[in-house]
Amino acid sequence: MKELTITTIIRECDFEELPASDKRLVELAKEMTRNAYAPYSRFHVGAAIELADGRVVTGANQENAASPSGTCAERSACFQAGAIAPGVPFRKIAIAAWTELRKPEGLDYEEYFQDSPISPCGACRQALLEYETLGRGPVEVILYGRRRCYIFPSIASLLPYCFTEF
Ligand code: THU
Repeated sequence: MKELTITTIIRECDFEELPASDKRLVELAKEMTRNAYAPYSRFHVGAAIELADGRVVTGANQENAASPSGTCAERSACFQAGAIAPGVPFRKIAIAAWTELRKPEGLDYEEYFQDSPISPCGACRQALLEYETLGRGPVEVILYGRRRCYIFPSIASLLPYCFTEF
């Protein structure tokens, strides 16, 4: 039996080190956290997808009393992109989040955000992967945290040995 090793090169940096266009994408993801409808989890997530034609499509998590009926920010953005820009490849996605539960009174909006980034859930990885496959090119994933950002080279890198077809 042989062993196989999966290697992913993830870049870690401070927000200030990001190129200006990535900073803008992150700012849009952060801005979208204001549009989260999260009365149940109190966890606000925003996502912004940069398309190959330069357009940016955004999303925010939308919850529901019948919990499985809600959706994450990433799927909100990617289904929106699929609906309004069908066939246009995705190039990048930025994600930002904060929780009402650990937000002491008096904090500035900037300080709400998680110190360390959150990473998309399995269902969002699978959904995004399909658009990455359709677009025939990697979709860079920029995860924002106040103390550090992570940059993954593709959706597939977040979902090794993924299911893509039947
Ligand atoms: N959520 C997202 O929107 N994106 C993620 O990557 C993780 C979780 C949402 C789903 C739910 O509304 C809330 O955060 C708590 O899980």
